[in-house]
Amino acid sequence: MTDSAQVFHISTRASSARREPLTLSDTAEKRAQEVIVQYPRKRSAVMPLLYIAQEETKYITQQAVDWVASKLDMPPVQVWEVATFYTMYYKKPVGRYHVQICRTLPCALRGARKVSEFFHQRLGLNPGEVSADGMWSFEEVECLGSCGTAPMCQINDVFFENLTDERMEGIVSRIEKEQPDLRFSTTRDELGAGLAGSPKSEIIQSKS
Ligand code: FES
Repeated sequence: MTDSAQVFHISTRASSARREPLTLSDTAEKRAQEVIVQYPRKRSAVMPLLYIAQEETKYITQQAVDWVASKLDMPPVQVWEVATFYTMYYKKPVGRYHVQICRTLPCALRGARKVSEFFHQRLGLNPGEVSADGMWSFEEVECLGSCGTAPMCQINDVFFENLTDERMEGIVSRIEKEQPDLRFSTTRDELGAGLAGSPKSEIIQSKS
C-alpha cells in the first residue's frame, strides 16, 4: 500500500525539542491511553495512535509524529516509517472528501484508468490537488484489498466497489448533495459499529 509517487523529506536536523508540541483534545488523549494499555508493548499501538492524531490534525505532520513517538517511547523516524508506508495516513492536506483510486493490476485490468479519468474530469483536479472549496482531492494508490470487486476506490474510510461511470456519478452527486460523514472514528462511538442505518450505508449500497 505504499505510494511510490510520493517522496517525503524527513528532517533529521530539527530536533523535536525545538518544535511546538502538539496539543490534542482531552478525548483524543484519553482514547490514546485506552488504546496503549491494550498492548503488551506500547509501540504496537503506533497505527491506532496515528489515526487518533490524524483525526484531529487532518494529516500527519511532524508534530503528530512527535506526539505518537512520545506516547510510545519510539524514535520519530520509526513512526514515520509506518506513516509513509500506508496510504490511509495522509502526508499532506487533503479535501474533506479524499478519493483513493486503486491502480494495482486487478483494478487496472477492470478499468482503474477510467476511474481515475472520471475523477480527474468530474472534479477538475489532478492527483494530489485539493479543490478550491476544500471539498475534494484524489490520488492513485496501490491495492486496497478489495480486488474481487474491482475497480474500486476508497473515499475517506469507506470503500466503493464495482465502479462504473454511472455509479461514480451517482456517488459524487450524492456526496455533494448530502455531505455524509465517511470517516470511521477512533475517538467516537461509531468505530466498528457497522454502517446499518447510517446515511453512508445508503450511498455505499446504491447502484447509482
Ligand atoms: S487490486 Fe485494486 S483492490 Fe486489490
